Amino acid sequence: MAECSEKCENCSFDFSEDKQKGVCSIKEEFIVEDHVRQLSEKRLTETDKQKVFLGTNVENVEAPLSDEPPVKKFKHDDKKEKLRGQNKARPPPFKAPRELSLCPWIADQTTAEPEKKCLNQRCAFLHDRKEYLKIRPVDIGTECHIFNVTGKCPRGTTCRMGLRHLTKDGFNIVDEKRFEEHKKRSPSTMNRLSKDLQNELRKHKYDFAKAEAIIKANDPSRRKMQLQYSKSGSEIDNGEICEVGAEYQKPKLEVTETTDTSDNSNSVNAGSNVSACDMSHESAKPRIGPVDDSDLIRLRRSEKRKVDWRSKILLSPLTTVGNLPFRRICKEYGADITCGEMALAPKILKGAQEEWALVKRHECEDVFGVQLCGNNPGVLTRCAQLLNREIDVDYIDLNLGCPIDLIYRQGGGSGMLNRLNVLETVVKSVSQVLDIPLSIKTRTGVYIDRPIAHNLMPKFHEWGVSMITVSARKVP
Ligand SMILES: Cc1cc2nc3c(=O)[nH]c(=O)nc-3n(C[C@H](O)[C@H](O)[C@H](O)COP(=O)(O)O)c2cc1C
Ligand SMILES: [Zn+2]
Ligand SMILES: [Zn+2]
Repeated sequence: MAECSEKCENCSFDFSEDKQKGVCSIKEEFIVEDHVRQLSEKRLTETDKQKVFLGTNVENVEAPLSDEPPVKKFKHDDKKEKLRGQNKARPPPFKAPRELSLCPWIADQTTAEPEKKCLNQRCAFLHDRKEYLKIRPVDIGTECHIFNVTGKCPRGTTCRMGLRHLTKDGFNIVDEKRFEEHKKRSPSTMNRLSKDLQNELRKHKYDFAKAEAIIKANDPSRRKMQLQYSKSGSEIDNGEICEVGAEYQKPKLEVTETTDTSDNSNSVNAGSNVSACDMSHESAKPRIGPVDDSDLIRLRRSEKRKVDWRSKILLSPLTTVGNLPFRRICKEYGADITCGEMALAPKILKGAQEEWALVKRHECEDVFGVQLCGNNPGVLTRCAQLLNREIDVDYIDLNLGCPIDLIYRQGGGSGMLNRLNVLETVVKSVSQVLDIPLSIKTRTGVYIDRPIAHNLMPKFHEWGVSMITVSARKVP
């Protein structure tokens, strides 16, 4: 557009008249002349109402209409009520009335089973199968995919494609052979949140000792102390800094761990603190079952599980678009590595089903990662520990690019690029708590004229990051 100086032959625009930078013109054929935009009075701010109803110019309607002093205007008053262009008055989505639908408790009743009864006294659904058959809506298809694959359709009488799995009296038919075969198969979708785990999370009973110890060890004030200590030249042993506090008195046995520092000397330092700290936590608890040393001695980078990123097609995390079915299609089209939609770490920690849906993995996703977003080292590290232990995942991706205003303003997503101290604690802690790789997806910076990603990259590597993706567009 910028290069056109005359009227374009392919479209109706005369670009010589419209060279405004950043303005995208609409082709004539897409302009609906007779459309009148409806304004909802409810959605207008006081100022806008005055503009509309008095027909005056917007900017100058600040003067009060009566003698009363002007009402105090709060900072966000205008924002809250702004007309967004959406049809907010649309009716709620369609729902079939319960009185016209058969109760799900008895819907999959077969003739062979004893009669199922709904025990809910206040159940509003229909419980008379014959009555339901009279009003049952016509089928929308003849093949029930669920029945064909699993041998049993849980929707039974209410299935709108139930021709092949219903008797004339509306009872469900089960293909026993197929049903048994299907039961033996491992589920094609993994990483579901179990009720037990959800309860543990909701009641704050989950053991986050490992994450907590790591966060403590990476606390910026401790880092400062370490730095001062190292500057004063004392207590440095094989490139390793020993903490002063009693809980950080490093047991001698761990010295061996630090001999191989070629990979990541910095994180080994932090790791030594972590391990000591871990021990203080662990010792308070009786341990049952087999004991390994992974909680006591932090894994070296070379000991972590690895993902070979080289020459691979990686499907970027895409909120709302990159859901599990979409990723399955992308796998068929040749994606090697997939990543779930951005999940909010605080919600994962609360055991929120809708957030756990974002960590689900299909069996075809052979290398799969979960992207986390958060603004707090404690929350992110706990969340990383939780997912690493509880779900089947190959890597964790840290979101440093989300531009959503709410997240940005709270210092998460791209907002963390403004908080480099917090960022350091987050990256170090999350990387240390994982035995799978940590990757980062970042912007070049927050401001277009102040890129910082190139300076951060060597640090990310030093702090334990395995792979970095840079989304080179600026934060809008
Ligand atoms: C609809 C949509 C959703 C996205 N969701 C995420 C997300 O959840 N996490 C993330 O790191 N990036 C997300 N992105 C950014 C993409 O992963 C990718 O980096 C970006 O689209 C590539 O830049 P481009 O759009 O300029 O080609 C999203 C992008 C789009 C268009
Ligand atoms: Zn019922
Ligand atoms: Zn069915």
